[in-house]
Amino acid sequence: MPSFKRITIIYMLLHILSGCKWLNDGVERIRIKAVVEPKNSKTAFLKLKAYTKYQSIQINYINTGNDLKPNDSIEIRMGTNLSTFCNEMELVWSGEVKDPQRLNLRIEKEQGYLTSKKPVKACLIRTLNNKQIVVSSTIATDEDPAAPIPEAAAIYNYGRVCQEAISKIPTMNCFDGQLMPILLEGKEVRNLAPNADCDNPVEIEMPFGQCVPGSRVLVLPKTDPDVDVVLICRKYEVRPMDSPIFDDISIIQHRRSTGATCFFQMPYRKTNGTRIPSPTEAPKDTPKGAITAQDFWMTPTAAAGRECITCHDSDPFIHNPWIGQHKQLPSQPQGKYVILGAAFADWPESQSVTTTTPNNCTQCHRIGSMKTCDTMGESVGRTKSANLLPNHFKFPEAYWMPPNHNAGSLTEWKAKFEQDFLALEKCCMDDKAPGCIRSNLSENRGW
Ligand code: HEC
Ligand code: HEC
Repeated sequence: MPSFKRITIIYMLLHILSGCKWLNDGVERIRIKAVVEPKNSKTAFLKLKAYTKYQSIQINYINTGNDLKPNDSIEIRMGTNLSTFCNEMELVWSGEVKDPQRLNLRIEKEQGYLTSKKPVKACLIRTLNNKQIVVSSTIATDEDPAAPIPEAAAIYNYGRVCQEAISKIPTMNCFDGQLMPILLEGKEVRNLAPNADCDNPVEIEMPFGQCVPGSRVLVLPKTDPDVDVVLICRKYEVRPMDSPIFDDISIIQHRRSTGATCFFQMPYRKTNGTRIPSPTEAPKDTPKGAITAQDFWMTPTAAAGRECITCHDSDPFIHNPWIGQHKQLPSQPQGKYVILGAAFADWPESQSVTTTTPNNCTQCHRIGSMKTCDTMGESVGRTKSANLLPNHFKFPEAYWMPPNHNAGSLTEWKAKFEQDFLALEKCCMDDKAPGCIRSNLSENRGW
């Protein structure tokens, strides 16, 4: 392998890469754009990232089509002559597939592609019975709309990565969202004492309890059927219903086909929620007197510090009786879940927990190994949610899983579902218990 002389392979596999701080925002990079070929291919996904600062090229491959198997022999070939056939390009790496789901290589070169500023073509080639098959190829040019702009705010650069992979987030207004009623014995209440109980508390701890009315949820109308964007504007304190002040505003943005997901979080503070700047709004585009994106949003690093994944662990969007009042809340319970952003590369990756024998509770959706495992008892009357009215902690109200279960009595519900729930709970608590399966659920892209 002659080309090895000029090349050092530093890391393989995302798990190792994800801990590396050199992926942080603000790193100067050659602007690149990765093109997947064949176009519209759903089966292969090879991407190139080039970093001038580190003189390195990162190659990332997601094996969505299962066209790689463990121990397959593969080669990465590269060159700046785009019309050269893949198998005639310079060999930069060859080896065997370890993790068939993904491949991450960081290739360091002392000279060559990175300084040329020419487009670079990379090919992933699989050798099978001495025959070479091009699995995926990609071209990096200098036109990447998501390439970080060194002088821009970190939130802006993160927003652009998300915009490129998912969609453009518009400027939004909390009042375009639906009010999520707080119910007391079935009736909507607009003024409850701090820490009072209700029929449908939210499931996050708030300083004045979990039954504060006035929060709103906006599910963006679909312009692209593949994209889901949800804005939540929470109130932590009781205020008049028309008060524009909210305490906690965040967005989850998701593309179904690729699983790409982004998280935006405002720091906790009293904020007028009538104009929520798009993370990619440039300061010059913010109207006079309005808050800029940089001032409105936490930096990606700070938002990542909240570890959204620990609660949003089964899929990007959490469902419960409170937020379920929004009938258009997206759900894609078995979909791909890929976390974008260098700042989010260190997140723990969630796993899907189930039993080896068919289990009712994981028939329609996954159960994530983190918070969902801890709190799923709330869906089946075993753990009382904080601030749930005590007389609602009974059958049938506190047994909201499975939906519309039609069990006429607790005895009937138990006969149908209790064993499955208990088996699952056991697997949640002990991942080595017999009869349990865990599989990878979320995945950090790292950039
Ligand atoms: C402690 C657990 C927890 C953490 C951490 C968390 N969330 Fe959530 N989130 C929830 C719950 C629970 C809901 C459902 C509504 C409710 O009960 O409050 C929710 C709902 C949402 C929603 C509405 C869409 C949906 O999933 O139902 C958005 C948007 C959201 N969270 C954004 C974020 C972002 C961004 C972060 C990280 C910066 C984050 N969340 C971290 C618990 C959490
Ligand atoms: C028939 C399909 C179905 C079955 C069976 C089912 N669920 Fe669900 N589950 C759902 C749906 C749909 C939602 C979303 C609910 C909503 O939008 O209000 C959900 C949501 C949940 C959630 C909230 C997860 C989150 O974070 O978004 C939990 C926890 C849960 N289910 C647990 C269970 C348990 C435990 C069982 C077994 C007793 C079960 N489910 C069986 C359909 C099902």
